[in-house]
Amino acid sequence: MTMPNPFEILNLQEAVEDRALSFDPSLFDQYLGQEAIKEKLKVYVQACKMREEPLDHLLLFGPPGLGKTTLARVMAKELDVGFRITSAPVIERTGDLVAILSSMQAREVLFIDEIHRLPKNVEEILYTAMEQFAVDVIIGQGAGAKSIRLPLQPFTLIGATTKTGMLSAPLQTRFGIVERLDFYTHDELASIAMQNADFLGMPIVPEAALELGRRARGTPRIVKRILRRVRDVAQVKKHKIIDLEVVRYALNFLDIDDDGLNKIDRLYLKALLHDFDGGPAGVETLAAMTGEDRDTLEDVVEPFLLRQGFIIKSPRGRQIAPKKIIMLRRKILHENLAEQQDLFNE
Ligand SMILES: Nc1ncnc2c1ncn2[C@@H]1O[C@H](COP(=O)(O)OP(=O)(O)OP(=O)(O)O)[C@@H](O)[C@H]1O
Ligand SMILES: [Mg+2]
Repeated sequence: MTMPNPFEILNLQEAVEDRALSFDPSLFDQYLGQEAIKEKLKVYVQACKMREEPLDHLLLFGPPGLGKTTLARVMAKELDVGFRITSAPVIERTGDLVAILSSMQAREVLFIDEIHRLPKNVEEILYTAMEQFAVDVIIGQGAGAKSIRLPLQPFTLIGATTKTGMLSAPLQTRFGIVERLDFYTHDELASIAMQNADFLGMPIVPEAALELGRRARGTPRIVKRILRRVRDVAQVKKHKIIDLEVVRYALNFLDIDDDGLNKIDRLYLKALLHDFDGGPAGVETLAAMTGEDRDTLEDVVEPFLLRQGFIIKSPRGRQIAPKKIIMLRRKILHENLAEQQDLFNE
């Protein structure tokens, strides 16, 4: 068995492996957790179906791997309409977007991922498209050029972004529904682990599922990845059932600790605690010290550490939360001792 790289667990870019060989919810009932959001969306979906109208445009915020793309797909399925998926970085020119929009059927869902990354002129096409179901296109060149209005079928735009602050106000206000996905509870993640274990035909004991849930950084994509690694371990160790022992063994070599923190989280906290005496420190400096890029720190590492109360953000930079300082000192001391022990044993 090849040793999986613990860092891959934190690289939350969607991998091919995430979709292959994994259970992907396609209905509300299979989409576990996010109950409050689901309740609201179910009502809107039902109302739209009764009125035979397209759903209002929907904007989904949230860190990577929490289920934005999946929820968009579920919405289309529940609305019983077609689903088109694209991503802002591939829409380079206004013509690309006009081509997509004019091919939409009535009430279909268009999903635009990373919607904060649309070029300004492309974004402006969306304004009239969303509000009036029409686009203005320029025909011809020079003095003879004229603008004509092209009607579109009424459609639903679902936009997703991990960056709250980066969406322009004119775009954001054109979404009738705005929802923010939050990190999942341990129990919700345990249910997702069970759902996937079922799908893979691997029996799992409830305590093992809960242990996975506790260590998955509140993120479905991570719980699914860890489960796949656990499955590898179970297979090699010839365990027919995934129990606590197999899970702990796998988590140990994936280097995920009791708080669900992995190597990058710990490097980040260690840099902040030791090199900046608890902070404040700027994100660029922390990026240089941990060898991670700024985006990964801001989109993946920090939201979880903030949510768990390990760090606080202020205009002066990032700081260790005062109430966690003692606990983190102990954790890092323990880790340093373990490392020294390893060296000694070698
Ligand atoms: N509520 C859920 N219940 C069960 N599985 C889920 C749920 N949410 C997400 N997943 C699973 O977790 C994985 C990640 O979800 P998804 O790709 O939708 O996240 P995302 O928010 O779009 O991430 P990104 O920001 O990277 O695009 C998928 O494999 C999906 O099947
Ligand atoms: Mg996505």
